[in-house]
Amino acid sequence: MKKLDGKVALVTGAGRGIGRSIALKLAADGARLVLNDLDEAPLLEVAAEIKALGSEAELVPGSVTAPDFGDRFVKAALDRFGDLHIIVNNAGYTWDSVIQKMSDEQFDAVMHVHLKAPFRILRAAAEPIRVFRSEKQSKAIAWCARW
Ligand SMILES: NC(=O)c1ccc[n+]([C@@H]2O[C@H](COP(=O)([O-])OP(=O)(O)OC[C@H]3O[C@@H](n4cnc5c(N)ncnc54)[C@H](O)[C@@H]3O)[C@@H](O)[C@H]2O)c1
Repeated sequence: MKKLDGKVALVTGAGRGIGRSIALKLAADGARLVLNDLDEAPLLEVAAEIKALGSEAELVPGSVTAPDFGDRFVKAALDRFGDLHIIVNNAGYTWDSVIQKMSDEQFDAVMHVHLKAPFRILRAAAEPIRVFRSEKQSKAIAWCARW
C-alpha cells in the first residue's frame, strides 16, 4: 500500500522542470494524475513515465491563463477519476526587470499566470472538494455509528 493510493492530484506546468518532478513523485507514491502544460508533447512523455510507475494520467494541455481553464481542469479530474485531493499550481515563468524598466505587460502576465490562474483553479475545485469530503465524512460517521 502506497501512501497516496486512491488520491487524485492535479499538477500544472507538469511537462518539465519542477512540475514534472512533482508529478512523478506523486505517481510513485500512488496518486493518479491530471496534468497540464502548454503543449501536449512533453505531457505524453511524462504520462508514459507515470504508466511505467504503475499509475495513470489524464492530460489537459493549454495555457492555465485561458478563462475557462480552471473549470476544464477540474472537470477532467471528475470525469476521469471521480474525485480530487491535491492541487499543485506550478505553471509559470519569470519575466522580470528592475522596477524602473518593468512594463505593465510584464507585471500583468506574471500576475495572471502565478495568481489569477491558480485562483480560478482553486475556485473551480472548492465546491467538489467540499461535497466529496462532507459526503465521505457523513458516510464515515454513519459507518462508525453502527458499532
Ligand atoms: N526554478 C526556480 O528557481 C524557481 C524559482 C522561483 C519560482 N519558480 C517557479 O516554479 C515554477 C516551476 O519552475 P521551473 O524551474 O520548473 O520552470 P520550467 O520552465 O522548467 O517549467 C515550467 C513549466 O510551466 C509551463 N508553463 C509556463 N507557462 C504556462 C502556462 N501559461 N500554462 C501552462 N503551463 C505553463 C512551461 O511550459 C514549463 O513546462 C514556475 O512557476 C516558476 O516561475 C521557479
